[in-house]
Amino acid sequence: MATGGRRVTCCCAAVLLAAALLLSAPEATEAYDSLDPNGNITIKWDVMHWTPDGYVAVVTMHNYEQFRHIGAPGWRLGWTWAEQEVIWSMAGAQATEQGDCSRFKGNIPHSCKKDPVVVDLLPGTPYNMQIANCCKGGVMSTFTQDPANAASSFQLSVGLAGTTTEAVKLPKNFTLRNPGPGYTCGRAIVGKPSVFFTADGRRATRAFMTWKVTCTYSQFLAQKVPSCCVSLSSSYNSTAVNCPTCSCGCPNPNGTDCVKKGSPHLGSATGGPGKWSGQPLVECTWHMCPVRINWHVKQNYRDYWRVKITITNFNFRMNYTEWNLVVQHPNFDNITQLFGLNYKPLTPFGGGINDVAMLWGVKPDNDVLMQPGKPGSVQGELLLRKDSQTFTIGKGWAFPRRVYFNGDNCVMPSPEYYPSLPRMQAL
Ligand SMILES: *[C@@H]1O[C@H](CO)[C@@H](O)[C@H](O)[C@H]1NC(C)=O
Ligand SMILES: *[C@@H]1O[C@H](CO)[C@@H](O)[C@H](O)[C@H]1NC(C)=O
Ligand SMILES: *[C@@H]1O[C@H](CO)[C@@H](O)[C@H](O)[C@H]1NC(C)=O
Ligand SMILES: *[C@@H]1O[C@H](CO)[C@@H](O)[C@H](O)[C@H]1NC(C)=O
Ligand SMILES: *[C@@H]1O[C@H](CO)[C@@H](O)[C@H](O)[C@H]1NC(C)=O
Ligand SMILES: *[C@@H]1O[C@H](CO)[C@@H](O)[C@H](O)[C@H]1NC(C)=O
Repeated sequence: MATGGRRVTCCCAAVLLAAALLLSAPEATEAYDSLDPNGNITIKWDVMHWTPDGYVAVVTMHNYEQFRHIGAPGWRLGWTWAEQEVIWSMAGAQATEQGDCSRFKGNIPHSCKKDPVVVDLLPGTPYNMQIANCCKGGVMSTFTQDPANAASSFQLSVGLAGTTTEAVKLPKNFTLRNPGPGYTCGRAIVGKPSVFFTADGRRATRAFMTWKVTCTYSQFLAQKVPSCCVSLSSSYNSTAVNCPTCSCGCPNPNGTDCVKKGSPHLGSATGGPGKWSGQPLVECTWHMCPVRINWHVKQNYRDYWRVKITITNFNFRMNYTEWNLVVQHPNFDNITQLFGLNYKPLTPFGGGINDVAMLWGVKPDNDVLMQPGKPGSVQGELLLRKDSQTFTIGKGWAFPRRVYFNGDNCVMPSPEYYPSLPRMQAL
């Protein structure tokens, strides 16, 4: 095997097989994530009042996922009307298509589509088209990182619909895109009507009717290939372990699916919400990943040790705002100090095991991972207290067990290549 070369250059079969196994590893089938078992986006429809031919509803989406947000260019929510309903008007969002409204005279609906798709309005929308919690370009943060921006609302006036709780037919076939695939939505379920309090909290009002739809995410549905990989390095061994070859796909022989370092390219994400292809345009590397996370064991003191994390962006089509990492390491219950990073322990299994942490960049600079060259990377450091019972830099113990970037499981090198100490020096 390639003995401590800077990269794992060995050819073909073994590596490709290993890569293929890794690719199939993350959450193979179902929309269930062991690190966030209850994570979901809940869409709530509150019917606020009846109109002569239907109702006015406020729709609110709450992101109840621990570490997955919806970044630019934002969410796209779709459904299918049960009957002949139309949307007379909207505030705080808009339907992407009006559809065929030719049967209407006089007042023309906002949308006559049987299966409308709704997108958020952009920041700076005129006040008369806004409602509370709208107009953020479809971006929804995680509750952990930014609770004030973890929800999104819009209002719509529905016509040719029922005008009593018994007569209203619930919309069907909800779809939520981010704007790519990944979310699966259940059916609408009528629940207890929402209660709203006035600003002074002295009076409560009630929605006429409320239904909810829950959508869950699956990385498997979202993309066929991983979107990030992990490289490892240390101060005690000059061997750096790079991302596995073809972690996120192999470059095609023509070199047409990536950009050679330093060559010109059309980087910016083009077009409006409808145009976004979601396809990354990456710099040519042997891993072909849009994002690489390097975990560097930087220092080893008597009572503490220090890790430097560097995230590098290879995707010319993306500035990752409000990025986050989820990392699993057995020493994470002893994080003492962070530099450039915020931290929240996640205890997905409810019990006392506290070895999973969510990390995200400190504002205003470290929270945006800019496109390659501008400068295209962010860094942070962790200082951890040693537990003499368990701490060792032998056998790759100092390296993470799992890493997620923006909720996607990253490809790790195979443990056999981890930098190690010669046996005699192991602490
Ligand atoms: C969605 O998340 C909320 C908040 O964590 C939780 O109360 C609810 O049970 C979840 N819904 C489903 C269907 O998992
Ligand atoms: C809802 O989706 C299912 C499966 O995609 C499809 O069979 C059904 O026809 C759709 N219903 C409507 C009303 O569009
Ligand atoms: C590579 O080039 C060949 C010949 O020019 C072309 O037929 C093929 O479609 C190209 N492959 C890709 C993935 O662009
Ligand atoms: C990223 O941000 C920079 C600076 O604001 C901007 O010039 C560039 O076009 C952005 N790139 C993308 C892909 O949006
Ligand atoms: C690490 O954290 C655990 C759990 O909080 C605690 O029991 C242990 O004493 C800590 N070890 C050190 C060296 O601080
Ligand atoms: C560095 O780590 C590699 C991979 O585990 C190992 O083969 C090599 O012996 C180590 N080098 C030193 C100087 O310890």
